[in-house]
Amino acid sequence: MSTKVKITTLCENSVPYPANGVIGEHGLAMLLETGSQKILFDTGGGLTFLHNVRTLNIDLHSLDVLVLSHGHYDHTGGLKALLQEYGGNLDVYAHSDIFKAKYHLLEGKEPKKIGIPWTKEELESWGARFHLTRESRELGDGVILTGEIPRREKAEEGTAKGLCCREPDGSLVPDPLYDDQAIIVESPEGTIVLLGCSHSGLINTLRYVTELTGKDRIYACIGGTHLVAASDERLDYTIKELEKFHVQKIAPCHCTGFRAAFVLYQAFQDRFEFNAAGNVFSFGG
Ligand SMILES: [Fe+2]
Ligand SMILES: [Fe+2]
Repeated sequence: MSTKVKITTLCENSVPYPANGVIGEHGLAMLLETGSQKILFDTGGGLTFLHNVRTLNIDLHSLDVLVLSHGHYDHTGGLKALLQEYGGNLDVYAHSDIFKAKYHLLEGKEPKKIGIPWTKEELESWGARFHLTRESRELGDGVILTGEIPRREKAEEGTAKGLCCREPDGSLVPDPLYDDQAIIVESPEGTIVLLGCSHSGLINTLRYVTELTGKDRIYACIGGTHLVAASDERLDYTIKELEKFHVQKIAPCHCTGFRAAFVLYQAFQDRFEFNAAGNVFSFGG
């Protein structure tokens, strides 16, 4: 366990008031700093990453590792800028499926490419060293990357609706998004979970986190919850399940959507904080 944990949101859809110079885009990136490590979780969509890093006076030269929550462009679009600005030689941890050809199907429109904008080889030529596996793994002192998240909750089936990937034969099939994963970090207050898009389902994710930690409580959840199109029933279920984990801080953003964020605010009140670009969360004093 780390005695101090700091999480800074580098890219997000929205920006805070009062303005602090950061800008928003559809995407997410968060920097996790523990007593011994600097871990970047995603890189946003690529439009705001370097601007926001500079504006927030963050030095990424000493970055230990990059983790990619999954292979969508809005989490990986800043990869090229990151590698080129900071000289590459960066270990990148992710699931084996991140380079699948990913698409979004919108009615009456051409399938939209939403995968990583570059090939693995291109990224390697700029200094990325990929470590791809489906398994969970320890990233450092009290920090775990979940690996593939089991899908068990009936209420969360269909999370990946409209999201597809192209098979080798050219056909488009629903993308199970098995590459979606979260980071777990132990702080003095308790377990913190950093979420990319929660394509596996928020409750599936938290349930698996408790299996990996052996603890039934989760102190904080920060990041994308993919509740943007959730039904009233799904939102009710989510809030009830979140309470069972005794969540003390919920800081949703990105693919949560206004309606779900509002419902979460009503339920969690002073345990709720909207996570905009430039937000800083500190744990352990
Ligand atoms: Fe996504
Ligand atoms: Fe996303």
